[in-house]
Amino acid sequence: MLTAIRKLGLGTNFKASFLFKLFPIPSSYSPSLSRPFHSNMPPRVVVTRRLPPTSQAALEKLDADIYQWQEDCAMPRETLLKEVKGAQGILCMLTDKVDDELLDSAGQQLKVVSTMSVGYDHVDMEAIKKRKLPLGYTPDVLTDATADLTALLTLSAARRIKESIDAVRNGEWREWRPNWLCGSQFTQKTLGVVGLGRIGEAVAHRLKAFGISQVLYSGRSEKPEASKRLQAQFVSFDELLAKSDYVIVCCALTKETKEMFNYDAFKKMKRSAVFVNSARGGIVQQDDLVRALEDDLIAAAGLDVTTPEPLPTTSKLLQLPNCIVVPHIGSATLETRDQMGLMAVKNLEAGIQDKALPTSVL
Ligand code: DGY
Repeated sequence: MLTAIRKLGLGTNFKASFLFKLFPIPSSYSPSLSRPFHSNMPPRVVVTRRLPPTSQAALEKLDADIYQWQEDCAMPRETLLKEVKGAQGILCMLTDKVDDELLDSAGQQLKVVSTMSVGYDHVDMEAIKKRKLPLGYTPDVLTDATADLTALLTLSAARRIKESIDAVRNGEWREWRPNWLCGSQFTQKTLGVVGLGRIGEAVAHRLKAFGISQVLYSGRSEKPEASKRLQAQFVSFDELLAKSDYVIVCCALTKETKEMFNYDAFKKMKRSAVFVNSARGGIVQQDDLVRALEDDLIAAAGLDVTTPEPLPTTSKLLQLPNCIVVPHIGSATLETRDQMGLMAVKNLEAGIQDKALPTSVL
């Protein structure tokens, strides 16, 4: 069987011809939908990005005809729509929209979509369900990395790290001053977790080590096991907002959670509260967050996710001294990204082999 990686990139013609020399394409090859699928032909799979090292190596061992985007930027939509034709598997990122248009372009032979992410709000689930496609995703392996980063953002926002670093760089650091750059600490404080899933629980566990004495959480349903482990209390969203010193968002972006943090919600929070979002930017009405910070409705914010991503450098959020923004790096550790890549490859492999996916949403 022929196994080849067709490297796709901005200079595709040059690269493709180079690679086609290394891995000659059979003369019968045609990526169109009308191409007959013979059982001895390797399945075509499209991978929208190069993967971290271990998972890239695993991908290259697949018995498949792999079309992989090589550039350090998202695969352009038109290229994806073109290359996906005739594919049996798609391995995508959270930056690739999976919808009717993409799935129609792929064709009826498509067997699996595997996303290298735990979040799947970029996937139109109706479009997946009506085609009875399995959707692979990467839960669990990014819990620790994302929880670390969320705790880091919470600590950084609470302790005014952005202002502190700026002060040192700008020469504002004078003698030690008793009232300068004082933030808030965690001892005997209340943490409010919106969405006590795997990541929410891991963040609460970490912040309890800093002295948090009470954990509140809100969400669609009570989580008895996690509640017990954390001695946490299930409360309404409004109660959580009113009582928490730290409010962290760890829920998925859904129709119900979209922009749930609006001006009204921020108004219900303590003026001393710190707000942290490492889930999805769409959960926050971002202009309202800017207003809330400008109007001192809350003390500070830490964001790993924004709308849009990347956040334009002209965004007001970046000018606010009490708002720390990092570029969606929650899962960005070498270990975690490799594990995410491996899970995505395993899901892809199982799907093209008509096996149950190791980790699937559906
Ligand atoms: C995910 O996998 O959904 C995360 O947002 C990536 O960090």
